[in-house]
Amino acid sequence: SVTACGSGSGGSGGGDSITMGFSQVGAESGWRTANTKSVQDSAKNAGVTLKFSDAQQKQENQIKAIRSYIQQKVDVIAFSPVVESGWDTVLKEAKDAKIPVILTDRAVDSKDTSLYKTFLGSDFVEEGKKAGQWLVEEYKDAKDPVKIVELQGTTGSAPANDRKSGFQEVIGADAKFQIIASQTGDFTRAKGKEVMEAFLKSNPDIDVLYAHNDDMGLGAIEAIEGAGKAPGKDIKIITVDAVKDGMQALADGKINFIVECSPLLGPQLMDLAKKVVKGEQVQARVVTEETTFTQDQAKQVLSTRQY
Ligand code: AHR
Repeated sequence: SVTACGSGSGGSGGGDSITMGFSQVGAESGWRTANTKSVQDSAKNAGVTLKFSDAQQKQENQIKAIRSYIQQKVDVIAFSPVVESGWDTVLKEAKDAKIPVILTDRAVDSKDTSLYKTFLGSDFVEEGKKAGQWLVEEYKDAKDPVKIVELQGTTGSAPANDRKSGFQEVIGADAKFQIIASQTGDFTRAKGKEVMEAFLKSNPDIDVLYAHNDDMGLGAIEAIEGAGKAPGKDIKIITVDAVKDGMQALADGKINFIVECSPLLGPQLMDLAKKVVKGEQVQARVVTEETTFTQDQAKQVLSTRQY
């Protein structure tokens, strides 16, 4: 469903006030919930009328929402594409209707970059590399093979593709690092648990879990504990996001390292939207600043985490 919130008169040509159609991926993770809140709060603060829709992790729903925004003649469309491929046709429709498009959080693989004005979000390859670098350092003195299982994000999504390739690039330099199983957990806690249970059944000695987000890692922790093993000790765990529940597990010693991915994209998105609607030039790529957390660092910052 497409619902409106925010303030301002909206519609084309209504003075300074603009209307944005935003198509969100879904509500699959703590990260996504924080991202939705950031977009909705920032729209309100910026006086942007927001038409928001939740695609429930389905590309067809996003395409429908974008077409509906085109019909409603919104001033700007922003969306977080669930997968990378298959956007050219609908983006061309927006371009023909002269409605600027902003990609937030995730990229598309369209060759024609004139189909969107800018892409605001994290560098997911870099996140995968940071995860790999921690692992290489952690096992620098190990002689035996390091057996890794990987919980991938949504198949075909930019963060799943890039976090996998960035990680692989770094660990691939040393043959002792072996990914013995890799499967999607769709960025959800439930699927992370289910897939980890299967991993544990078929692989008796897993050293490391690399989960593409905190939620899958948290589901996997339940599976590991269910199998009578200690997460963070018997199996080292690396995740991405740094949402509160993930940071709590890190501080508790159940996760070993988290690569931050910031969901707080709302304020920058509203700034960019106002500029592109005015026809101003904006940077083609705006990369989010992020850090990493060890267990000690998590203990220090936990109480001040916003999401
Ligand atoms: O696109 C960002 C990713 O999507 C987050 O890392 C994950 O938690 C979310 O579902």
